[in-house]
Amino acid sequence: MTDKSAYLVVGGDSLVGGGVVAALEQRGHRTFASTRRRDTLDPKRVYLDFESEQPFRAPAEAGYAFLIAAATNYDRCETDPLAKVINVELIPRAVASLLEQGLFVTFVSTNSVFGGEQPWPHEDGAHAPGIAYAQQKSDGEKVVLDAAAKLGALDRLNIVRLTKIMNAGVSPVPAWIAAWKKNQPIQPFADLIFAPISVKFVGNALATIGEKRVSGNLHLSGAANVSYIEFAQALAARLGVSNDLIHPTTSVEKGIHIAFKPRFSGLGMTRTTELTGIEPQPLDRLVDDLIADLRD
Ligand SMILES: NC(=O)c1ccc[n+]([C@@H]2O[C@H](COP(=O)([O-])OP(=O)(O)OC[C@H]3O[C@@H](n4cnc5c(N)ncnc54)[C@H](OP(=O)(O)O)[C@@H]3O)[C@@H](O)[C@H]2O)c1
Repeated sequence: MTDKSAYLVVGGDSLVGGGVVAALEQRGHRTFASTRRRDTLDPKRVYLDFESEQPFRAPAEAGYAFLIAAATNYDRCETDPLAKVINVELIPRAVASLLEQGLFVTFVSTNSVFGGEQPWPHEDGAHAPGIAYAQQKSDGEKVVLDAAAKLGALDRLNIVRLTKIMNAGVSPVPAWIAAWKKNQPIQPFADLIFAPISVKFVGNALATIGEKRVSGNLHLSGAANVSYIEFAQALAARLGVSNDLIHPTTSVEKGIHIAFKPRFSGLGMTRTTELTGIEPQPLDRLVDDLIADLRD
């Protein structure tokens, strides 16, 4: 019988996928990643494009798949009909196919399905999506759940929703660091709230969920809802940058339209912590990970 202990990361080139591959490999797991970049294929990088007609077979050794890839650009989700097809039809179809092939599947979703008006929504809370991206991810969750129910495979499926993922390369960190290096001030927004988590945190947490094979809805979140000013202050303090180089403003003052502006961004993690032991990531630990990224 084939050993099924390997993991498959669908969306190996994504921000989150890169973190999951790194965490799984660091824990000694055999790991495959999917890509649609043909020039990077090798025995561990397998080809998968949701838009292709070719049916996808998971590597025979894979017993668990993380479905991480998605059409993630907010503007594209508003304007390009193909984004909806990818998020609501093609990706859920890939999840159903992986379940049919006998794998345990994690479908990665987003805090935006809750709309941002309720503080700390529970894993099983009602959705209230606002923007097109959130609507598509919410609809995608429903299609995935229906398919798993039809296949009698709900015990081999979890949906893991994430808050904003950061590393040192994610905006606005590179621009802030560049400004501070030139002794120039930055202008973080007071009216933009998030509950960020690091790529390293999300990679390790998803690897733990994959090892424990917990089914149902799960959340990975920062421990606090913070404004971009509080985030800038935490980062500046750790880098020894003066508070004088932080000039608070608002997106409204700057005339910048922000598509998703939640009042509350953090996700409740009661069920997740109970079943997996994973706790929300405190802002200090996120900053630790960003500082480590910057050193690398
Ligand atoms: N980043 C966040 O802050 C955040 C927050 C909450 C939830 N999430 C969720 O986490 C997941 C990953 O997000 P991310 O920001 O890491 O994504 P990302 O960096 O934007 O990457 C998206 C990935 O999906 C792949 N993809 C898109 N269309 C495809 C298609 N038709 N066929 C095959 N692959 C396709 C892309 O391939 P190419 O590289 O070839 O373009 C890319 O690797 C998503 O499900 C997202 O909804 C992310």
